[in-house]
Amino acid sequence: MGRVIAITGKGGTGKTALSAMLIRHLVKAGGGERVLAIDADPDANLADSLGVEEVMTVGDMREFLQDSRLTLPPDTDKRALLEAKIFEVLQEEDGYDLLVMGKPEGAGCYCYVNNLLKGIMERTVDQYDLIIMDTPAGLEHFSRGVMPDLDTLIVVTDASRRGLTTGERIQELAKTLNVKYKHLFLVANKVTEINRDKIMENAKSLGLQVIGTIPYDESLAKLDLTGEPLIDLPDDSLAVVEVRERIIKEMGL
Ligand SMILES: Nc1ncnc2c1ncn2[C@@H]1O[C@H](COP(=O)(O)OP(=O)(O)OP(=O)(O)O)[C@@H](O)[C@H]1O
Ligand SMILES: [Mg+2]
Repeated sequence: MGRVIAITGKGGTGKTALSAMLIRHLVKAGGGERVLAIDADPDANLADSLGVEEVMTVGDMREFLQDSRLTLPPDTDKRALLEAKIFEVLQEEDGYDLLVMGKPEGAGCYCYVNNLLKGIMERTVDQYDLIIMDTPAGLEHFSRGVMPDLDTLIVVTDASRRGLTTGERIQELAKTLNVKYKHLFLVANKVTEINRDKIMENAKSLGLQVIGTIPYDESLAKLDLTGEPLIDLPDDSLAVVEVRERIIKEMGL
């Protein structure tokens, strides 16, 4: 089974940016791993960060299946139909595949999409060496047992104390939700000279292992402002350098 790496953390800390940079690195390094990127955030934007324009989401597939319920003969094998459709949402990109979860049904019911995702995970996890999953803030959207067993849970935090305690809270949440993981790492993002020491100190006092401190990076902020994909970040961008020189290595990738 492939290594599943989930990126989580408080809203706006840089989960999507880190996910996109990890995928960027894996694609550029060309190590030959079969990589699957999953955007599990209903406000999906990992695809944008990766520069992928048209995506069919698990949510779209749910709608298709719901609509087809009305037109298909009642004896249709829905499971078989589902299996056939699953491979349609796995989008083939240059050097990796992409799966976007999309919007849940109606007023925040994630059950159906979650179940579809679970089915997809069970069927595809073996076909990849590395699965990088950008999750929504917190893990609350995952109902019990939907998340596959994780190799690594990465909590992205900003420099605030509150950001760091998220790491601790997520540890507890993971336990409650029965999300299993082998390693839990912290990545501090938007770090400046002023807050670097404080971050390390706070992380230490919480017993969390920091595997990277990504500087506040103007080139990254600029791409975001102009709506350009982060996959186009230059190799010498400060954030990209930290991912390449430290985070990837600490993760053993
Ligand atoms: N190292 C960095 N330097 C400068 N800007 C950054 C950095 N990391 C992220 N940003 C900016 O911070 C904002 C939030 O980043 P991002 O969307 O990756 O966070 P997120 O945790 O995925 O947010 P959400 O919870 O909304 O999904 C974006 O505008 C992004 O461009
Ligand atoms: Mg995001």
